[in-house]
Amino acid sequence: MPEMNVSMIIATNNQHKLNEIRKMLPLSFTLETLKEAGINFELPETSGTIEGNALQKARTVYNETGKTTLADDSGLLVEALDNQPGVDSAIYAGLPRDDRRNVDKLLSELSGINNRKAAFITVLALIMDGQEYLFEGRVNGRITESLSGVGGFGYDPVFIPDGHSITFAEMSDDEKNAISHRANAVRKLQEFFAK
Ligand code: IMP
Repeated sequence: MPEMNVSMIIATNNQHKLNEIRKMLPLSFTLETLKEAGINFELPETSGTIEGNALQKARTVYNETGKTTLADDSGLLVEALDNQPGVDSAIYAGLPRDDRRNVDKLLSELSGINNRKAAFITVLALIMDGQEYLFEGRVNGRITESLSGVGGFGYDPVFIPDGHSITFAEMSDDEKNAISHRANAVRKLQEFFAK
């Protein structure tokens, strides 16, 4: 990929996601966090869809700053649960957000269910010079019966990606970053900038 000097705000307060995205983009990209951009309020995520929330967050930051903004929204879609928790993945077990309670609720909802198929999806919304662009990444896999591993965050301890036998939480950051939904979305973003 050619050297590019893209400067943008990454509209997330999630340190894990920020680190993942930082590692995946070329060093020539200058990334600013919400805090560094002076955004100190919670970004609204009320659209009801993953794609809508990514756009809503990007628009909020772009309207405040006028700077190129990248926002992401992700979720876990579980086939046997009609694609729940989906857009509600972060608060599946209610407020306050708690990864462990979300995972426990998921395992309990899937108790006795043989179909463990699931997918993580990420939608990246980029706003640059007033134009909006969307990039979607996906990774298919299955939900385990119990937790394994201590890495990552969210549902990582119960998600085994297709073609693997360990959960995201058992993988190194580099292993997860090579195949994750976010990696696939970031790859599409890189291709867009490389054109
Ligand atoms: P967000 O809207 O992008 O913050 O993601 C919503 C929720 O989906 C997170 O709070 C996590 O529970 C879950 N999630 C998203 N990405 C991942 C991941 O890479 N691993 C595990 N859980 C994730």
